[in-house]
Amino acid sequence: MDQKITIKDKQFRPFIPAKKIDEAVKKVAGQINAELKNESPVFLVVLNGSFMFASDLLKEVTIPCEISFIKVASYHGTSSSGSVSELIGLTEDLSGRTVVIVEDIVDTGVTLEKLVTVLQRKNVKQIKVATALMKPDSYKKEFKVDYVGMEIGNDFVVGYGLDYDGMGRNLKEIYVLA
Ligand code: IMP
Ligand code: MG
Repeated sequence: MDQKITIKDKQFRPFIPAKKIDEAVKKVAGQINAELKNESPVFLVVLNGSFMFASDLLKEVTIPCEISFIKVASYHGTSSSGSVSELIGLTEDLSGRTVVIVEDIVDTGVTLEKLVTVLQRKNVKQIKVATALMKPDSYKKEFKVDYVGMEIGNDFVVGYGLDYDGMGRNLKEIYVLA
């Protein structure tokens, strides 16, 4: 079935079926279970986009862990210092902890870099990154993305948590701009 869908002014076509997503999620969970089994990590789920990936992933994570939900707020100060980032919802003491950032997609890496910069000030033991999707041709940063579900090209996708102008997050398959 090659069923196109319309979201607002754009058409999207099926791109990654639920079965492939499921396989990718289980692969990532397996890597985390093996590599972080003695770490008792804190998963920091970055809302909104990561809610579906996080839910599926963490059901497959069998090691002891904590789960917390955060948002990144960016705003421009009145000075010329550029944009400032703040994490909303981070109440845990992360000192000495292994932190796993859970993202829906890593594109240019700008968002990830902001998160990492804030977390590096919190005396964490180490920062790991798990993402459902990654656009390697677009990624411009140095920071290592440890656990990648699937790599895609520089195409705009929706579904499985990802939105187009707020819509489409509920779709259980991933669609690409038609
Ligand atoms: P960054 O460029 O890595 O900072 O990604 C910024 C944000 O853009 C991601 O967290 C997503 O919210 C959004 N984004 C990037 N690529 C896509 C896409 O293909 N579909 C939907 N959102 C995207
Ligand atoms: Mg996002």
